[in-house]
Amino acid sequence: LKYMKTKSIYICSECGYKSPRWQGKCSNCGAWNSFIEETVQKNDKSIERSSFATQKIYKLKDITETQNFRIKTNIAEFDRVLGGGIIPGSLILVGGDPGIGKSTLMLQLCAILKDYSPLYVSGEESLEQIKFRSTRIANIDENLEFMAETNIEEISAAIKSSSAQIVIIDSIQSVYTDKVESTPGSIQQVRECSSLLMNIAKTQNKAIFVIGHVTKDGYIAGPKILEHLVDTVLQFEGDKTYNFRMLRALKNRFGSTNEIGIFEMTDTGLDEVKNPSEIFLSHRNTQDSGVAIVASIEGTRPILLEVQALVTGANYGTPQRTTNGFDIRRLQMILAVLEKRLGLLLRNNDVFINVAGGLYLNDPGVDLAIAAAIVSSYKDIPIDSSTVIIGEIGLTGEVRAISNINSRISESEKLGFSKIIMPQLNAKKINKTNKIELLGIDRISVALTAIF
Ligand code: TYD
Ligand code: MG
Repeated sequence: LKYMKTKSIYICSECGYKSPRWQGKCSNCGAWNSFIEETVQKNDKSIERSSFATQKIYKLKDITETQNFRIKTNIAEFDRVLGGGIIPGSLILVGGDPGIGKSTLMLQLCAILKDYSPLYVSGEESLEQIKFRSTRIANIDENLEFMAETNIEEISAAIKSSSAQIVIIDSIQSVYTDKVESTPGSIQQVRECSSLLMNIAKTQNKAIFVIGHVTKDGYIAGPKILEHLVDTVLQFEGDKTYNFRMLRALKNRFGSTNEIGIFEMTDTGLDEVKNPSEIFLSHRNTQDSGVAIVASIEGTRPILLEVQALVTGANYGTPQRTTNGFDIRRLQMILAVLEKRLGLLLRNNDVFINVAGGLYLNDPGVDLAIAAAIVSSYKDIPIDSSTVIIGEIGLTGEVRAISNINSRISESEKLGFSKIIMPQLNAKKINKTNKIELLGIDRISVALTAIF
């Protein structure tokens, strides 16, 4: 080893961009202070080598389809996010803040999939700690197999000789390979260990879940670096104050990335939330101004929830625009439309937007409800709490048609709302068999007149 030539390169811990020189700001992703020095052996090609390398060439018809062999967990929230179940032979990264519930979720997964003889490898907690934790989880199986190990060569040997079809590595930051000299959690270690695990997953047709912490600390390689190495990236996030947890696919080679799974952390582990609307609306306070109810679409599922706005006089120079769960540029667009088309001057006001339950709304169909909540707060007039507001706002102040209209209507109806204010273009196409009153409007000004 001594005679091998080594050189230093710098890697961005946010995006994995490599540079021969240190950079204060990554020229690829724009992150600050993200560069970490790594030494590489000049002859070491193992990092670049593809883990799919096979010698044979196959005809399309001879390649067996794995779609049909998805392993169902029967946790509906989990299966949906994965695109219908776990694909054997895939490497899945489960990322999230420390303490959010990644280990708990994976333990529960093992409990459910005991017929696939799961192997849980812990590099973070001792076997005693895992035992203690597992006693809280309902239906945990006494025969589940655990291993406390951090050396990836040892882990790899254990996986290969076991009959496990599901493997959990908790966590990628805690394991290391003898092949590189840097500390566990460094970018090189994380990358080497992941490609080794990818290799095992593909060659042995085992599904491997790798837990990765998201931290701001530059010396722990962020799971961002792993994203292009793995098949699927699941992000576990949530609002700790409500105990809700959202599982979403940031990347999925075998399914859509729109779906989210919603869980609630309880005394006995994570519970599925099957009717999210009921929970997101349960803290509803009907007398307050600045609150609007919207029927949003997350993936393929309608969720009714509350959006809140607070408009106050700005005390200092530039007024603030702050959002929680909503795109700030979209808010700026809505404010600009309210100013230009309705003459509502908010340039001397701070505007805050908050979406209930820690959800992040990407759905353009929530624009009109956000606008209504802003106007409600500004005028200090509450919105009728039995009304649902949906619609996308265009730059000329028109209300544009939105997707999934029927499921939004039926969810609103199911939860006992009496009226929906919605785009005219959608309303025209709906036959009037609904119990709920549909009010089609074509402009934001018309909508606001109807609401207030
Ligand atoms: P954990 O799975 O250890 O998080 P991560 O692996 O992402 O770091 O979960 C940690 C939190 O979950 C901890 O604060 C305790 C809580 N918890 C419960 O509330 N109920 C339970 O049944 C379990 C197992 C954990
Ligand atoms: Mg953990």
